[in-house]
Amino acid sequence: MAAKRVSGKSKKAWSGRFQQAMAKSAEEFTSSVNYDVRLYKQDIVQSIAYARALLKAKILTGAECKKIIKALEAILKGIGAGKIKLDLRLEDLHMNVEALLIEKTGDVGKKLHSGRSRNDQVSTDLRMYLKYEVTEVVMLIKKLQSALLDQAESNIKVIMPGYTHLQRAQPVLLSHHLLAYFEMLERDKKRFLSAGEEADVLPLGSAALAGTNFKIDRQGLATELGFSKISANSMDAVSDRDFVIDFAAACASLMMHLSRFSEELIIWSSWEFDYIKFSDQFATGSSIMPQKKNPDIAELVRGKTGRVYGNLLTLLTIMKGLPLAYNRDMQEDKEAIFDSIDTVRSVLAIFEQLIISTTINADQMIRSAKKGYLTATDLAYYLVRHDVPFREAHKIVGKIVAYCEESNMELEYLSLKQLKEFSKDFGYDATRILSAESSVAGKDVPGGTAPSRVKEAIKRARKNLLHDKA
Ligand code: ARG
Repeated sequence: MAAKRVSGKSKKAWSGRFQQAMAKSAEEFTSSVNYDVRLYKQDIVQSIAYARALLKAKILTGAECKKIIKALEAILKGIGAGKIKLDLRLEDLHMNVEALLIEKTGDVGKKLHSGRSRNDQVSTDLRMYLKYEVTEVVMLIKKLQSALLDQAESNIKVIMPGYTHLQRAQPVLLSHHLLAYFEMLERDKKRFLSAGEEADVLPLGSAALAGTNFKIDRQGLATELGFSKISANSMDAVSDRDFVIDFAAACASLMMHLSRFSEELIIWSSWEFDYIKFSDQFATGSSIMPQKKNPDIAELVRGKTGRVYGNLLTLLTIMKGLPLAYNRDMQEDKEAIFDSIDTVRSVLAIFEQLIISTTINADQMIRSAKKGYLTATDLAYYLVRHDVPFREAHKIVGKIVAYCEESNMELEYLSLKQLKEFSKDFGYDATRILSAESSVAGKDVPGGTAPSRVKEAIKRARKNLLHDKA
């Protein structure tokens, strides 16, 4: 059967050894154009730098290099303005740009791919893109941190129950609770910055897997493209997606934190807790129950955590069985990481607004902090200070709590006489340490919830946020 030669626009750059055109279904199945178009800027900027490297390597003449750069700049503008649409049949972004270049420059454009592979290109594009996204995400995290500090500052007097096992444990400042999330976000920033450092390695010059034959100034290319290092091994360079996984893992950790926060906000907004009120602007109603006000934003943040975890698992699973070096499986990395980025960005932006617009029900918080014997530990510590071993003190106070429970009374209202029935070591000052206020004031240690410590922490956090180079 005579082979039908491939011709026209859909002719592949690699079609030389093929006798038949690729099936339409196979073209559609393999194409990444619909999503890798997102990397067009990085791809073209990279090609411009590569053209200059080819000039230095004497593969291109000055005139050829100029012509290529001019055409690439026009393509960059064209795609940006929506005037150039990519062709799905051309497989991916890189092939599209090359085809457009050849359309504009003829044989000159055909020289650009000397010593370069799409394997190098796609990794370089993704690294450039993720480096940029790190700065964007870190900026959004900082905005959210700043919103937390605003709430912490304006509610500095508010005392609430601190919980363990979701049971009332000890009184804490609401601001202290909020600053706990500030700290989580600090660690998240570090994770993103470290993912950015992993991405900051230039693979270009690997030429598919073995390294290029041409005198490509890899270090010069790195400098021009804003990379601080070049890859040390060409095979690793083209088959490494650790930097994508690191970014996806940073996204997963961030979402884990925001999901925990969401869970608390959802509980706090319930009638049962009644600690906070979401603004009408950031809540939804029910299509059937007229009275409902639902915390859908926080719920969706919690829900979206699932897809971000999923993306990390997708990436790890894609990579787990791959022999060196590049394999097409790796094309599947992009949708996963793009989805994580889009999700994290939208979540951070809305979460900041959610935090700013939420009102605190300070009365309800303090009422709750005063009910449930939350200062029992302080009472035990009183005895410890009067030389009662802690285990003894714990037992004595346990009995006092049982007594209070029976007589439906809070610790705060016990008289000295009542206390003395449980231990002779209680003095007149014991009754004064049983309020929520004196309990928080007593936690006067770095990292503790004493108001002076929390104020200090807010100040320090503000300063760090301002001077933080990230
Ligand atoms: N579209 C491919 C990807 O995203 C680019 C690299 C393809 N390389 C290849 N030899 N087919 O991974």
